Amino acid sequence: MASSKLSPCLIFIQIIFLVFVFNSANAQLKVGFYKDTCPKAEAIVKKVMDQVMKVAPSLSGPLLRMHFHDCFVRGCEASVLLNSSTGQAEKDSPPNLSLRGYQVIDRVKTALEKECPGVVSCADILAIVARDVTVATMGPFWEVETGRRDGRVSNFSEPLTNLPPFFANISQLISMFRSKGLSVKDLVVLSGGHTIGTSHCSSFSSRLYNSTGKDGTDPTLDSEYIEKLKNKCKVGDQTTLVEMDPGSVRTFDNSYYTLVAKRRGLFQSDAALLDNSETKAYVKLQSASTYRSTFFKDFGVSMINMGRVEVLTGKAGEIRKVCSRVN
Ligand code: HEM
Repeated sequence: MASSKLSPCLIFIQIIFLVFVFNSANAQLKVGFYKDTCPKAEAIVKKVMDQVMKVAPSLSGPLLRMHFHDCFVRGCEASVLLNSSTGQAEKDSPPNLSLRGYQVIDRVKTALEKECPGVVSCADILAIVARDVTVATMGPFWEVETGRRDGRVSNFSEPLTNLPPFFANISQLISMFRSKGLSVKDLVVLSGGHTIGTSHCSSFSSRLYNSTGKDGTDPTLDSEYIEKLKNKCKVGDQTTLVEMDPGSVRTFDNSYYTLVAKRRGLFQSDAALLDNSETKAYVKLQSASTYRSTFFKDFGVSMINMGRVEVLTGKAGEIRKVCSRVN
């Protein structure tokens, strides 16, 4: 009798507890988290990044992409940075083999550890660096929320199931973004990150040689563009890099949408944005816009949304001393 009276009360307490736990994850991320504990944190990151961008501007793409690959696997908790002596970490997994720039994150971390040891997480470094490379390529600035903590687990298999593949269709893309709490708008806006950087031929060569159209080409890819790409990427090429937004590969602008609208998006996942009314409308809108359109503001908002995915805060996780290994 006593237990049947108690159980609704217990359930209520459990619900309150769960709501608290759920909310607290985001509640503790905030702009200026290191204001008191490491006031120069963001200035230090910027200083290192200014030096890096001067000598290695081609790292802007890989470093923006790294934050995405971190957030989609176990949340933004820097699991992508962990090393494994047996090749079983996220970074050893096929979708991450083309990531570059880990040494830049280490360099930033070393500078931060000198100024305030054990304070700034590797997950926050990834988020701030992603913003700084966007700004360095003349893209938008946004205030980065900080307060993430670092995870202790990294699994080879998880990037394969959590990162959208280049051959994803629009429903797969939408559902993979939804599963991370991100909207259809976030999908089309964040895909605009493909305005900078390069791709290996192998990420799109099936569209040139092994698809359903004439001579194995992809009918959704512009035929003139196919010829240009075939000149760069011969069958089986695993090494050549191709600019994703030719002509402005190091400039963050909205020309990605002009390309997609002209059926010149490089990946099937880019072309897929024309297969849904909302994403298509956004592509068309941005492709017709002038430079520095609403895309800049939208990108900052969606990066903040992505930076909140499944974060560890409070006492969860740890602040790594070295980004490539747990303490
Ligand atoms: C929507 C799903 C996405 C898919 C399927 C996808 C797929 C890819 C692929 C296949 C590459 C080329 C890798 C290579 O062959 O070297 C790439 C590069 C890139 N991606 Fe994405 N991506 C997606 C979303 C994003 C997002 C959300 C961002 C960031 C906001 C992003 C930023 C980049 C950047 C900057 C590069 C160039 C990297 C470099 O220069 O090395 N991507 N992406």
